[in-house]
Parts: sequence; C-alpha cells; structure tokens
Amino acid sequence: MDKERMKEAFQQMLEGIKWTAMSAGKQFPHYADGKTGKWVFSPNGDWTGGYWCGMNWLAAAATKDVLYHQWAQKWIGLLDERVHSRTVFRGFLFYYGAVLGSILLKDEKARDLAIRAARSVYSAYDEKAGLIPLGEEAEEASNVGNAEANIDGVCATPLLLWASRETGERSLAEVAIHHALQHLKLCVRKDGSVCQSATFDPSGNLVRRYTHKGYSEESTWARAQAWAMMHYTVAYQWAPQEKKLLEISLHVSEWWISHLPEDGVAFWDFDDPEIPHANRDTSATAIAAAALLKLSHLVGDEEKSERYKAVALQSIERLVSHYLTPTSKGDGRRPGMLLEGCFNKKLGVALESELIWGDYYLLECLSHLLGHTEPTMF
Ligand code: GLY
Repeated sequence: MDKERMKEAFQQMLEGIKWTAMSAGKQFPHYADGKTGKWVFSPNGDWTGGYWCGMNWLAAAATKDVLYHQWAQKWIGLLDERVHSRTVFRGFLFYYGAVLGSILLKDEKARDLAIRAARSVYSAYDEKAGLIPLGEEAEEASNVGNAEANIDGVCATPLLLWASRETGERSLAEVAIHHALQHLKLCVRKDGSVCQSATFDPSGNLVRRYTHKGYSEESTWARAQAWAMMHYTVAYQWAPQEKKLLEISLHVSEWWISHLPEDGVAFWDFDDPEIPHANRDTSATAIAAAALLKLSHLVGDEEKSERYKAVALQSIERLVSHYLTPTSKGDGRRPGMLLEGCFNKKLGVALESELIWGDYYLLECLSHLLGHTEPTMF
C-alpha cells in the first residue's frame, strides 16, 4: 500500500471520528451496524470506552487539532466514575483511554486518572492465586462469576507497568508480572494457541479451560490469540528485563502467523468448521497487526522483525482495501468504519459490525506507518 493510500485511509478515519463525536452525546460508541453505521452506545464505557478516547488521542497527536484533544478530555471526564469499577477490564479502559493521553499529549488529567485507576486495579489482586480475577462487573463474569480468568484480562498488565514507572511504586509492576505469567499457565496452550478462559483453584492452579466467545473449548477464538499477542508484547515493552514476556509474545505470534488465512484477515475462530464461509473478525486482525508492528521493533532479530512487519502490512492493506468505508464510489456510509468485526458469535451480537476497538487498532497501525507515532511509544 503506498503512502498516499495510507494517508487517505487515516483521513477517512479522522472524518469518521468527527461524525461519531457529533452524535454520541455523553455516551461511548461501542459497536455499529455494518450496513447503516448506526452506533450502539454504552452509557458508561463498558470495557471499550477507552478505545474511543484513544482514537481521539491519536487524532489529536497526529493533527494537532484541538478539537480531538477536547473530545478526548470530555470523554475521559466521563470515564472517571469507572476508576473503582470491579472489573479487570479497566486495563483496556484506562490504558487506551488515559495512558495514551499522558504519553501523546502530556495531558495531566489523563495521567492522574490512569494512575488512580492503576492503583485501584492493583487493589483487586488476589495474592494467593497470583492474579487479578475478572471481577463482578466484567462483561464475561455475567455467566460464570467473578473469580475466573481470561486472556483478555491481561490488559491490566500494561496499565500497571506504566503506572509503576510513573510513580516508582514497584509493587504495581510486581503484581503486573505475576498476573501476566499466571495467565500463561491458565490460557496459553503448549503449541502457542490461546484458550480464552479458565477456572483456577484458590492457589491459582488451572482447574479447567473454556471459552466465553469462541467456537468451543478446544478451538482458538481469534481475539483470544490477538489479545495475547498484544498484551504480552506491550508488557514486554514496559518491562524489557522480563524476557519471558517476549518469549510468550513470540510463541503466540508465530502461531497466529502460521494459521492466518492467505489474505491476511482472520476468521472469528480459527476452528469454525464453516470456514471459508464463516464470519471474519477484522477487529482481531487489527489487534494482531498492531501487536506485530510493535513486536517487529522489539524482537531484536532482523529476520523476525522483517517477517512480522510484512505480515502486519499485508493485513493492514487488506483491511483498508476491503473493509474500510467508503468501500466504493457511491458508498454513503459514515467514512472510516472498519467493517466485519465479529463481537459475540455465541450470543449472536454484532457479527458483521464495526467495533470501536477494531477501529482503534487500525488507526493505531496507520498512525505508526505514517510516522505520527512510534510503535513502542505506548
Ligand atoms: N472481552 C474482550 C473481547 O470481547 O474481546
């Protein structure tokens, strides 16, 4: 993909942010109908509100347009009431929602919010089990209870590691690393594939593996794999002395690369027997591409670095050329929608939709490729 096409895609996404910001009121865009572009909003940001703020932080950093900065500030103000929410997914909310603002715009309110949230997440640590459980307000806790684990929840690790650096509180980093390594035991299979969810005993030992959103307990849900790639890579970025984190990132990323369809866009679950007629998940693909761009900068091996970048570029190019609105000349939908994300196939929710985190990760990839940001800045 040439630079002009990348710029154009980035611009489409910036336009899309404007359209959304004008219609969102005091709610957070969560997912949108692929045909109409009509958003389903979440009133309090659910686990995804940070991605909406993150898009505005990226847009503000790239354009220096104060409007995006004001929108980011407006919506992080609304996230403040979530600082003590009982969910490990505050990692998603406050890393992308607030840490980015501190790093990219030196926004003091964002920094303060991220540190308060990190301290609160830290206080949910279960010392005996060596991890932070889902928590009762986590989306996935609704049908299994709060004392469970899933790979998505490793999103707490980057938030805690960043906050430890900012504050000098080493305990935050210690908990972050334990939390990440416990999830290796619970969710990562020997071959490098990832199982989303796990039950653990009071000492943190694995009791059983299962899945909330995947096809089956033995299958590999695309976002489980992609989240592992992202969370362990960002964790290593903040804790480069922890070589185990890099080892895990490489293991799960190699699995992704060797199972990715030829066109570079993942199906929602690698083991759905309906493939090639199964739903895609462009959001998993965007997460993984963003992780591979980071990993290519961190791996310290030329061959791997080039390969990870090439796979990321192939996916990004395909997302832009086939799944980003407008997809044709007469396409009247909101610009910058990343189509064909698959939110929750099991529950039949948003199977061919725009998902706010898919948008975010594609914007992040384009921002890095255009040189507005460095892959390892955040
Ligand atoms: N729980 C995060 C996800 O659905 O990917």
